[in-house]
Amino acid sequence: MKRAFSIFLAAVMALTLAACGSSGGRTSSAPPAQTPEAPPAVQPPEKAEAPAPAGEGKILVAYFSATGSTEQVAQTIADTLGADLFAITPAEAYTSDDLNWRDSSSRVSLEHEDPALQDVALTVSTPENWAEYDTVFVGYPIWWHIAAWPAGSFVKANDFTGKTVIPFCTSSSSGLEDSGTLLAEAAGTGEWLEGRRFPSRADAADVTEWANSLNLSGGGGPAASGNVLIAYFTADENRAADAVTSASVTTVDGTEKGLVRAVADMIQAETGGTLFSIQTAVRYSGDRDEVIEYASEEQRRNDRPELTSHIEDLDGYETVFIGYPTWWYDMPQALYSFFDEYDLSGKTIIPFNVHNGSRFSGTIQTIQELEPGAVVIEDGFTVSEQNAAGAAADVSAWLDGLGF
Ligand SMILES: Cc1cc2nc3c(=O)[nH]c(=O)nc-3n(C[C@H](O)[C@H](O)[C@H](O)COP(=O)(O)O)c2cc1C
Repeated sequence: MKRAFSIFLAAVMALTLAACGSSGGRTSSAPPAQTPEAPPAVQPPEKAEAPAPAGEGKILVAYFSATGSTEQVAQTIADTLGADLFAITPAEAYTSDDLNWRDSSSRVSLEHEDPALQDVALTVSTPENWAEYDTVFVGYPIWWHIAAWPAGSFVKANDFTGKTVIPFCTSSSSGLEDSGTLLAEAAGTGEWLEGRRFPSRADAADVTEWANSLNLSGGGGPAASGNVLIAYFTADENRAADAVTSASVTTVDGTEKGLVRAVADMIQAETGGTLFSIQTAVRYSGDRDEVIEYASEEQRRNDRPELTSHIEDLDGYETVFIGYPTWWYDMPQALYSFFDEYDLSGKTIIPFNVHNGSRFSGTIQTIQELEPGAVVIEDGFTVSEQNAAGAAADVSAWLDGLGF
């Protein structure tokens, strides 16, 4: 029985390792003596290339912020959910003297004393395309235990009928208290949820986690999240230039390419994202057995292969697809180097993978652990080595489901 299990395990292992067939190259299982030529760093496109959200459910994050704390939270919510931002802007901006609540004759103190003064004029009362939004976040700082009044001016000026409204605030120490309820009463329309208070220096990971916990769907999915980067690792693009490959690759328009690259190209065709090949100083073999052997060794040593390609302006991307083959039930060690190098906090990570039996094999959880500040989409795309070359329709359907 034990022996039968061992044979079964060996068979599964062999199958899984066939997934590294998107690799190629000549033998060496060690980094080369010479540093390979670095590929050009990629530049993000100047404008968002993600297509318009496919579904309904557009989200707006409207916020007032006098000193920037609430704005930070608003930005993180918008990044996480692919929402639009609207800054509630008083016609007469608050100076730091105006905000001095210790001075009984300052503007805020006078407004606090006289509610009639709290109805401040705004530069723009109603955001563009207001009717299109199904969900509206309303953010504000707490002033004397209530919402800073420019937020009140905003909600009174707009009709929230048919919209879900989610208040959030920042404060030094006060809670949300009745601030959301009072705004709901002032608005008189809309389905208001309870909302959430964050400290002035809110942790982006907390904000991201909260935004995701709301399970908002529709146009606020990753598709709406601005520029798209498609980072992928395939050993095929990390083998010696003169290597002959016997590993499985696919041929597209007369050019051989690794299977992970083939799937990356399918995603690129659908999203218009920018491709980025994760390249290492290690030159992988083109011989499948040698790659399998080397992958095992580098995993046992917990290597961090030196990366020779670098993303130039990561800030320009909000959605990062990450593709890799399964190697010994895990990601290739190059992916660990990648996650060591980049902090993807506030971004949406969408994994994709080519395997030969073990699918993602726990790697999505690993990515979430390595990038705690990012939103990692669990509904990644995984395809067997046998089906990868013909996966375009499946990739397209999967991306549709994500709102691309
Ligand atoms: C006029 C005024 C009144 C405030 N009142 C409170 C308060 O009652 N409770 C509290 O915890 N913080 C209070 N604060 C601190 C702000 O709520 C906090 O700094 C907030 O994060 C600022 O957000 P902002 O940078 O987006 O303007 C007050 C600040 C000002 C300027």
